[in-house]
Amino acid sequence: MTIDRPMSRRGLVKGGLALGAAATLPTTFAIAQARPIKVGLMLPYSGTFAKLGENIAFAVEMLIAEKGGKLGGRPIELVKLDDESKPENGPQNAERLVKRDAVDVLIGTVHSGVQMGIHKVVRETGTLTIVPNAGANAVTRELCAKNVFRTSFSNWQPAHGMGLALGKRGVKKAAWVTWDYAAGKESGEGFREGLEKHGGKVVQTLTLKFPETNFQPLLAQIPGLDVEVVGSFFAGGGAVQFVKEYKAAGLKVPLCGSGFLTEGTLQAQGEAAEGIETALHYGDGIDSVKNTAFRDAFKAKTQREADVYAVQGYDAAQLLAIGLEAVKGNLEDEAGLYKAMRAAKFDSPRGPVSMSPSQEVVHNIYLRRAEKGLNKVVGIAAEALADPGTGCKL
Ligand code: BEZ
Repeated sequence: MTIDRPMSRRGLVKGGLALGAAATLPTTFAIAQARPIKVGLMLPYSGTFAKLGENIAFAVEMLIAEKGGKLGGRPIELVKLDDESKPENGPQNAERLVKRDAVDVLIGTVHSGVQMGIHKVVRETGTLTIVPNAGANAVTRELCAKNVFRTSFSNWQPAHGMGLALGKRGVKKAAWVTWDYAAGKESGEGFREGLEKHGGKVVQTLTLKFPETNFQPLLAQIPGLDVEVVGSFFAGGGAVQFVKEYKAAGLKVPLCGSGFLTEGTLQAQGEAAEGIETALHYGDGIDSVKNTAFRDAFKAKTQREADVYAVQGYDAAQLLAIGLEAVKGNLEDEAGLYKAMRAAKFDSPRGPVSMSPSQEVVHNIYLRRAEKGLNKVVGIAAEALADPGTGCKL
């Protein structure tokens, strides 16, 4: 079935339950309330974004464990699916979770192209979805949906912060280097808009296909570009290699970017990342009780340092908890659930966050500098930055 606007998935997927409801309401309601809430975790657990997906999943598990395994009084059952960051399998994988596994909630994913496949399915079925990374702008702009929330960022946000910071400093000419897919393109747009607000320009964009890492033909063009900085979007394994090759090429033009370039990758990038400036909604040195507790707990659970991906996963689960607590675990109360999630203002390890009218997270974008293995926060590039939400009607 294909429909234009989201409708209640309760009627579609749980049709069997609804049929008998009129005759046996109290019993059915009691049974529905007692069963665990099934949460699908559709993430990359393999490929260039594997570590990103793992950290999101670990942090979701961590928040649920902190709440005693229950949200809104209901036990939570997680159903994991590896989407391998393959956009061509996105719709089919989302359908497996929603239709075959009958998840009540979907948390996913990392890659913007895969997200668009999920989005098609969850708009049709009305499945409550929380995006814990993928920044595809359309999700909270022209294709926004009342059942879809994002606790990570829009692709526009972090790169916009970087563009603003450079523009304010008087940078006039920049290049943008990235993978040729939604996250790279939309980050480039955010970067360009930020720069242009202060009279700067992106004079050249260089791209290669996702997830290719044959960077040499791009790097070879940089000395001829006559730019003051090179901005870029890469993440995960691709970012590690790009930063190392940029350094090895001996280029004089400083490299900067959307913060994913150095996030969760500094150890592998080593000396090559030293001094790189990026903008992101998280960084090292955010001194708050919440962040310290989060980092300690994440380290204890995983033996890894927390990064932005872990924060986003934790916040996806925090937002779900807020919604479920407001309706006491009653998923049938969609209006109450969504109202509470839309109005949520909560303490994230990244700082205070809230939700915009298009159900996108509103947060500070920090300016960071890579120093001795840390993405040190050196300022705020944009305070409480909301995505414009262009074209969203809810
Ligand atoms: C994306 O595809 O939206 C994305 C992937 C990794 C990091 C950030 C964004």
